[in-house]
Amino acid sequence: MSSKQGIGIHMKDFCPIQRFDHLEFYVGNARQAALFYSKFFGFTNTAYRGLETGKREVTSYVLRQGNICFVLSTALSPNHPISQSVLKHGDGVAVIALEVPNAFNAYQETTKRGAVGVIPPTEDEDKDGVFRYAAIRGYGDTLIKFVERSDYFGVFAPGFEPLDHTDKGNFVGLYEIDHVVGNVELGAMEQWVEFFANTVGFNLLVHFDEQAICTEYSALISKVMQDGTGKIKLPINQPAKGKCKSQIEEFLEYNHGPGVQHIACATHNIIDTVLQMKTAGVKFLSVPKAYYENLEERVGKINEPIEQLAELGILVDRDEDGYLLQIFTQPVQDRPTLFFEVIERHGAQSFGEGNFKSLFEAIEREQLLRGNL
Ligand code: FE2
Repeated sequence: MSSKQGIGIHMKDFCPIQRFDHLEFYVGNARQAALFYSKFFGFTNTAYRGLETGKREVTSYVLRQGNICFVLSTALSPNHPISQSVLKHGDGVAVIALEVPNAFNAYQETTKRGAVGVIPPTEDEDKDGVFRYAAIRGYGDTLIKFVERSDYFGVFAPGFEPLDHTDKGNFVGLYEIDHVVGNVELGAMEQWVEFFANTVGFNLLVHFDEQAICTEYSALISKVMQDGTGKIKLPINQPAKGKCKSQIEEFLEYNHGPGVQHIACATHNIIDTVLQMKTAGVKFLSVPKAYYENLEERVGKINEPIEQLAELGILVDRDEDGYLLQIFTQPVQDRPTLFFEVIERHGAQSFGEGNFKSLFEAIEREQLLRGNL
């Protein structure tokens, strides 16, 4: 079952957050990853920092689409922390960066409430202004970075140089990050709910217990944490005891610990977006045809043609505020870890819990193929 709670606490927000600033991926080969996200996911490569710009240890590319920003970074020597992270976790999201009005305050307020400081408040300066940031530790090795941009006017951050936009990628209509989900170990859920609630000032929006998210083989618990304004949603999953290895356990095994499981990107036209992504070569989870039989009886009237949704494998769910359409990619690297969701909301504020069962069954079919069930 699911339950909503903790909404509408009108305390002063001690750590106000303006938006997702960017997600930084640590990868084995940022040059090739940048091509993957531009050719398959429609991002544009907008800025670069590396050897040619005087950065000796790390190469980074800044990819943008709508309000979404991904930074892809590779280290150039084996002992650099980015190389060590890639060795352990594989390619994946290492930094969740949030824009804040004051990075120093965000660091002070969270560390005094128990957050582990990783990067103390720092100022970088170049001809385009002053860029301030700080970071605390999130689940696993993931960093939560506070970025302050009010005095910085450059392309991304000091040291980055703009790339000419002749290669626009092939924009597929993704316009913002809807939510970012993390997987944590069995027994670690409460610790991370308390971390986000007490240390970062988030609220528990909703939780789903193992009866709600249960298949023949596996179960999990999910809790959705969000910031005071509801713009930043960070759901957390924890495995629950099942008959076989759950998809969360598979993730934890291959990621060698907790980390970001999926990034949900919003579109205004999921049919068009998914058509373009599929044509480009993105692999999505398949949905059995039976899912679409009696779909409107289950979710009510929707505007999109069901045959087209069935053809593309797009899922539908409804809550008291409206409906949503969603679809999930296969993992985007060899390890069965990070994947993406594309979501189009028509009022619904939930996360597609009506689809959890069919989604997990689809994931389990893939797990079985990998010999991990
Ligand atoms: Fe999601």
